[in-house]
Amino acid sequence: MTGTDQMTGTGQSSDLISTILTRRSIRSFTAQPIPPELLTRLMQAAMSAPSAHNEQPWHFILITDKALLKTASVLSPHMAMLPSAAAAILVCADKDLEKSPGLWSMDCAAASQNILLAAHSSGLGAVWTAIYPRQDRIDGFKAAFNLPLSVIPFAMIPLGYPAETPAKQDRFKAERIHFDKW
Ligand SMILES: Cc1cc2nc3c(=O)[nH]c(=O)nc-3n(C[C@H](O)[C@H](O)[C@H](O)COP(=O)(O)O)c2cc1C
Repeated sequence: MTGTDQMTGTGQSSDLISTILTRRSIRSFTAQPIPPELLTRLMQAAMSAPSAHNEQPWHFILITDKALLKTASVLSPHMAMLPSAAAAILVCADKDLEKSPGLWSMDCAAASQNILLAAHSSGLGAVWTAIYPRQDRIDGFKAAFNLPLSVIPFAMIPLGYPAETPAKQDRFKAERIHFDKW
């Protein structure tokens, strides 16, 4: 077994760049549950993200309770897929852990992207659904999950085995690359 096989936990190997190039948002899921150890691997991937001053301001709420997924789905107009997910990760930041003021959202974005890529390389589907910086969604998630005052919900990431296979998109634009000057 290669290191990559161990990483995916599925016996499939994929190199990182092909994982990046083939990832798409998945909004339709099968009913198959996700093994707890795979969810832990996704958490490891999330917490391996870079962060400003290595502040690692994140906390994650792992949600598998269907009633909670349903409750959360109405806290944004763009989370209708949540009740069909096998699980979801609520990515949060604790402002009290911040060392570099103003950069926590970028740390959480890096962690969220790591989750999307680790999910895809493991045969799972996922989609980043936005909470921060929409104040109504922040308020809704803070109340629904009883978050401490210093904790800000950043994004919700529904997860599951994909029930759709969106085609890979080639978004490479040579004209967006500038060499040494604009
Ligand atoms: C910051 C951010 C917020 C997003 N919010 C939502 C959302 O609320 N609901 C949703 O279905 N998709 C959301 N998406 C997913 C985007 O719609 C998706 O990434 C984009 O259309 C490109 O498609 P792809 O992910 O399949 O490559 C979000 C993505 C990002 C990066």
